[in-house]
Amino acid sequence: MDAENLNDIYHQKLTSDEFGLIQNYIQVKCGIRLPLTKKNMVEGRLRRRLKALNISTYGEYLAVVFGGDSPAAEQERFSFIDAITTNKTDFFREPNHFDYLNNRLLPNLQQQGYGKEQTLNIWSSACSTGEEPYTLAMVLAEYFGLSGNFRIYASDISTAVLEKAVRAVYSEDKADSIPYELKKKYLLKSKNQDAALVRVKPELRQKVTFGRLNLMDSEYSLPVKMNVVFCRNVIIYFDHQTQFDIIGKICRNIVRGGHLFLGHSESVHGMDLPLRTAAPTIFERL
Ligand SMILES: C[S@@+](CC[C@H](N)C(=O)[O-])C[C@H]1O[C@@H](n2cnc3c(N)ncnc32)[C@H](O)[C@@H]1O
Repeated sequence: MDAENLNDIYHQKLTSDEFGLIQNYIQVKCGIRLPLTKKNMVEGRLRRRLKALNISTYGEYLAVVFGGDSPAAEQERFSFIDAITTNKTDFFREPNHFDYLNNRLLPNLQQQGYGKEQTLNIWSSACSTGEEPYTLAMVLAEYFGLSGNFRIYASDISTAVLEKAVRAVYSEDKADSIPYELKKKYLLKSKNQDAALVRVKPELRQKVTFGRLNLMDSEYSLPVKMNVVFCRNVIIYFDHQTQFDIIGKICRNIVRGGHLFLGHSESVHGMDLPLRTAAPTIFERL
């Protein structure tokens, strides 16, 4: 692509028909609502795909994305979803959740034999680049030891974030929110000082199983029922009915007495679900 074409991309706008097509596809496929206020954001994110594919108009790009069932179109639909999803996350994000887990739930579960004779299963259902499931793994490893009987399942719709999560390499800045003692125990520093990177140690990585799962799927084929589910900062992007449907499906995958954690600005208020509030944004499966 020459400089003139590149310049053209920056001035392009999605037509209202093109944006409508995107809104509809993303809502049906991922559950994510894209109001008109998100149009600039979508243009910016798709521009990167146009550049990567050496395509000069949004129209041409959408013809590739929606252009049939060829492997290339199929592949681009994944990249399209990767580009649209918002993946912001952090280690120990919303730390009160990890305090509650540590101080209230784990002692209870331990008394019932979890972490020892019984496997304690936790699911991070929109895990993004892995900070949430690795935080859970650190908290559980601190409580039960690395040889404790627990497993973290972690899934996301975006293949790009899952690749990063499996690699488990982060900038040192990203790791700033991890307490110093835990950093020392569970992270490896890059040998190259200039790189300023850390990697989660293999012993902790082994505690987490990653896979792609779309919360819009009619059923979730999880290997076990979960004791704890983290579904944080994702249903906020969905409409009320979709939120209800998804939380209902999640409930069917939680053991009775198990717990669901939502993001701080998410709620199940007004939804007829088998849940009772245990603490703000934390719910017990009835
Ligand atoms: C803002 S991040 C939240 C990450 C983490 N749970 C946290 O709270 O830090 C939202 C994640 O939800 C994922 N997501 C969006 N729609 C999804 C869907 N339909 N199924 C599964 N994951 C989805 C996105 O790819 C993104 O990684």
